[in-house]
Amino acid sequence: MIRMGCRNVADSVIERIRKETEVFVAKGNRAPSLAVVLVGNDSASETYVRKKKEACESLGFLHFQYTFDEDVKEERILSLIDELNCNDDVDAILVQLPLPKHIDEKKIIERISPEKDADGFSPVNMGRLLIGEDAFVPCTPNGIMEILRYYSIPTAGKKAVVIGRSNIVGKPMAAILMQRGVDATVTVCNTKTPDLKKETIDADIVIVATGHPGTIDSSYIKDGAAVIDVGVNRVEDSSRPKGFRLTGDVDYHSFENRDVMITPVPGGVGLMTVAMLMANTLKAAERRRG
Ligand code: GUN
Repeated sequence: MIRMGCRNVADSVIERIRKETEVFVAKGNRAPSLAVVLVGNDSASETYVRKKKEACESLGFLHFQYTFDEDVKEERILSLIDELNCNDDVDAILVQLPLPKHIDEKKIIERISPEKDADGFSPVNMGRLLIGEDAFVPCTPNGIMEILRYYSIPTAGKKAVVIGRSNIVGKPMAAILMQRGVDATVTVCNTKTPDLKKETIDADIVIVATGHPGTIDSSYIKDGAAVIDVGVNRVEDSSRPKGFRLTGDVDYHSFENRDVMITPVPGGVGLMTVAMLMANTLKAAERRRG
């Protein structure tokens, strides 16, 4: 097995952004800025939001954070988004998901101006991606494309299987892989797929994004294939200081003696997501002011 660690991949993206930002600022522009909205105190969301803040700081990006209690009214978040949409000091906006049940996620996402949509989740950006126009591309699938490039994994004419059809990962991932220039033959599986192994066993690239540990093991994958594990699952582990450890959606250890390239968890796809968010923030700044 070849472990596709992503620290170097993320660092190379960040260095590219750093250089491009220097050029942008040298032209007299203020640094790119990101507004992050966090509702409630989900500890995984707090961790992600902290990492986003640290990445902004390391690149010299401006960062505004808006934190609300769990019981905040939907209307309050909508009016904040309206304000941020109009605020010239803000280039990009991100609302951390999931939101509490009483808040309509779809309504919130649709309210973000497509030109400031750092996540690329708005219908306009999803639509642009699907028809091959320039768009803000969701960070996780965009980061996976960086991993494939970094590790020289070809896509053209290859069979790619995406397991999971979420709006955040599965659907945009499939849209990118089928894009002209990427040229994979794409299959998207879901919980009703009758025989998952039948779909994956002859795939060259398998992207696993189900949110369930152990979704596949090495018996699902042919020699020479690449496996991208998108899962970030917390499993109880009393031997760890925090009481849990992170595991992916793939049974990683079953691949130990196999001729397969695979991303680890942690140290894999998760590292890319923040880097690609910074790329989208810079892109928003360049588009608005460049
Ligand atoms: N929650 C889990 N992943 C993401 C993401 O990529 N963006 C946002 N906003 N929330 C998330």
